[in-house]
Amino acid sequence: MKILVLFDVHRTVGPDETFSVRSLRQDEEKPTEADVLSCLRKLEHEVQTLAIYDDVRSVIQRIDAFKPDVVFNLCETFRSDRAHEPNIPALLELLKVPYTGAGPEALVLCKDKALTKKLLTFHKVRVARFLVSSRERPLRRLGRFAFPAFVKPVGEESSDGIAKASLARTEEEALERTRFLHERFAGDVLIEEYVEGREMYVGVLGNRRLTVLPPREIFFGEPPAGEDAPRFATAKAKWDDAYRKKWGIRNGPAAPLPPGVERALSQTARRVYRILHIRGVGRLDVRLTPAGEIVVIEVNPNPSLAKEDDVAQAAAQIGVGYEVLVQRLLESALRWSGEPAS
Ligand SMILES: Nc1ncnc2c1ncn2[C@@H]1O[C@H](COP(=O)(O)OP(=O)(O)O)[C@@H](O)[C@H]1O
Ligand SMILES: [Mg+2]
Repeated sequence: MKILVLFDVHRTVGPDETFSVRSLRQDEEKPTEADVLSCLRKLEHEVQTLAIYDDVRSVIQRIDAFKPDVVFNLCETFRSDRAHEPNIPALLELLKVPYTGAGPEALVLCKDKALTKKLLTFHKVRVARFLVSSRERPLRRLGRFAFPAFVKPVGEESSDGIAKASLARTEEEALERTRFLHERFAGDVLIEEYVEGREMYVGVLGNRRLTVLPPREIFFGEPPAGEDAPRFATAKAKWDDAYRKKWGIRNGPAAPLPPGVERALSQTARRVYRILHIRGVGRLDVRLTPAGEIVVIEVNPNPSLAKEDDVAQAAAQIGVGYEVLVQRLLESALRWSGEPAS
């Protein structure tokens, strides 16, 4: 099959610049792109890469010239702006070329975390209670909001803007963090109920017939006596290996769960995936409260797909190795667009 691996970069890039697995991994620090490219080559597909920053014509021209059977879409930004993420699959849709992962609708519904939660609430899926502070008219009071609160940007990802100070114990702390986030990200801010509990990641594969992957869990080690570290996934806790090591933070298969919870997680994952029109692959971030309640924290269409990340690791746990996973994403893309899978 002819496959175009499409991804975003944060600098001007020539339409003919090519990328090797090594340059993606080392220079660009793009492990998902590196793993996917390497895998597609191993599967003996005919593969090209295209990086985009701000030149939409380069996409159209390359698709015209290369005529890929599928675009492996790994774009998260355009002109470094995450808000444009849905516009890339929208463009591919207009060009009538099959692409992997989510369509524009799922990305629009999930990238605005307040909108996601409003939809899920309508469908009686439990989410953290919340207020929205709009950038134009920031909240000045939180009324009878129950603390602690968790303050985060409405439209960011990858724990951007999530730090120790995200957990606010008082109205004053919450409003201060809110002001900071309005400035830093120039967008709206969510002030949420802080959900205590174990944190789990549930991957889902497919379009209509879904495979729910076994839950993964993030484990926060016990901090040394007298020291205090946040027990939630800050940017450091996710990405900084030295920090993870220091605080004993690791991701792995979920530790044993109370009876019925795995089934409930799986049912929640299926429902949420469908409500939000996700296809191809998705991942739910959830918390399991000490009372055994599942609370959806966030939903990710197009989650990161590096071999080491939770989705690929969870797939491997049920015998779906990386090559099979990548192949399934290609098949989902073709099936969705009505093309025969070859
Ligand atoms: N309401 C909440 N209660 C407790 N922890 C939260 C809450 N919201 C977010 N978190 C913590 O912050 C992390 C990042 O938040 P999330 O909404 O998943 O954003 P991102 O898109 O950056 O992953 C979560 O993995 C979780 O550890
Ligand atoms: Mg998350």
